[in-house]
Amino acid sequence: MMTVGPRLALEGGTPVRKTLLPYGHQSIDEDDIAAVVEVLRSEWLTTGPKVVEFEEAFAHFVGAKHAVAVSNGTAALHAAMFAAGIGPGDEVLVPTMTFAASANCVVYHGGTPVFIDVDPKTLLLDPAQAEAKITSRTKAVVAVDYAGHSCDYDSLRTIADLYGLTLVDDACHAIGGSYKGRPMGSLADLNTFSFHPVKHLTTGEGGMITTGNTRLAQGMRIFRNHGIDMDTHQRPQRGGGFYEMIELGYNYRLTDFQCALGLSQLQKLPEFVRRRQAIATHYNAAFVDMPAVKPLAVSPHVSHAYHLYVVQFDLDQLAASRERIFMALRAEGIGVNVHYIPVHLHPFYRQRFGTGPGLCPVAEGAYEQIISLPIFPRMTESDVEDVIAAVRKVIKTYEKGF
Ligand SMILES: Cc1ncc(COP(=O)(O)O)c(C=O)c1O
Repeated sequence: MMTVGPRLALEGGTPVRKTLLPYGHQSIDEDDIAAVVEVLRSEWLTTGPKVVEFEEAFAHFVGAKHAVAVSNGTAALHAAMFAAGIGPGDEVLVPTMTFAASANCVVYHGGTPVFIDVDPKTLLLDPAQAEAKITSRTKAVVAVDYAGHSCDYDSLRTIADLYGLTLVDDACHAIGGSYKGRPMGSLADLNTFSFHPVKHLTTGEGGMITTGNTRLAQGMRIFRNHGIDMDTHQRPQRGGGFYEMIELGYNYRLTDFQCALGLSQLQKLPEFVRRRQAIATHYNAAFVDMPAVKPLAVSPHVSHAYHLYVVQFDLDQLAASRERIFMALRAEGIGVNVHYIPVHLHPFYRQRFGTGPGLCPVAEGAYEQIISLPIFPRMTESDVEDVIAAVRKVIKTYEKGF
C-alpha cells in the first residue's frame, strides 16, 4: 500500500468536510410547522379527526383498503404479529439483515424468529432459503424491503399461499417505492411503516400498518388502544361510559399533532423519493470508476425508495478493514453508518435462541463489507460531491497495488 493524493484526516490530513454530514435527516418546512400548530390550538390532541384523516390519506397513497396509525414502526410490527395470531410455539421467518425490531416483534408474542440468509447482490430475503426453513410450526414470514428495495413478492406470495402463512412486509425502508408497478404497502397481508426522522416522511416517532383485511384492521385498532373494543367516539352511543377490554392491548396511539405532521409530509413524499433516487443515480455514476466500491444491485422491476444507500467495499482490493474505512470516512466528515449487524449475531438472540456465526454466511460476510452513505432529500449537490470525494480519497489511500 502506498498513500497517493491528500493525506487522510484520520492520519492528520485536512478533512473533506469540517462539519459532519449525517447519514439521514428530516425535511421539515413552514407548512409542516403550521399544520402541527393548528392542531395544538384545536380541541383534539389525540384520538381526534387528524388520526382518521392521516390513516385515510396513507391508505389511499399506498393503494390499501385500511391503514392503522400507531406510535412507531416497532409498535406496527408488534400489532402485525398480533393480527397474524403469533403465539408461543409459532415460528416466523425473518431475514437476518435487518433492524432487530423485525425479529423482536415475534418474541414479544412468545414466538420464535427463524433467521433466513439473504441474496448476496441485494441483501434481501432469499425466498428459496425461506421456503427451505418452513416447518409445521411456521405461521408467518416477515419480508424486509432492505434499504428501500422491494422483496420478491410474487415468489413470497406463492410460498405463503402454498404453506398457509401470513405474509408481512416490514416496509419501514420502502414507503414510496414499488414492485412491478404496485406500491409498497399494498403487496403483503400486513405492511408496516416507520415515521422516525431518518425515514422518508416523519411524525417524530410514528408508524402505520396497512392491510386489505377489515377484520385484521379492526383487531389492530383494538390492540393499539389497550385492547378496548371501541374508541371514545363510539362510547356515548353505548351509554354510561361503558367499555370493555377484550384483548391484552397497549397504548400505541399516535397523536393528532403527529398525524397532522404526517399528512403535511405525505404531500411531499413523491418529491422526497425522487430526490433520494436522484442522489443514488449520482452516486452510482461516480462509483463506476471505483471497482472496490460496489453499490447493491437493483432489480429492473423495482422502483427503489432509497431509505439507505448501501455499498459493499471489496476488501480483496483494499488494504483496510470495513471498520478502518468507516473510521476514515467519519474523520473526513461523512456520517456513514452500518446497516446492519445481522440480527442472529446479537447477544440476546445468541443467548435466548442459540443462534451464532455460521447460521447465515452471506449476511455475515456482507456485514464485514457494508457501509451506508448519507442520503436524504435536503442534501445539496455539493454534499453529494463531498461524499464521493471522501470515498475516492479513502479508496485511493487503501487501494492495493498503488
Ligand atoms: C426495517 C425496520 N423495521 C422496523 C423499524 C422500527 O421502527 P421504529 O424505529 O419507528 O420503531 C426500523 C427502524 O429503524 C427498521 O429500520
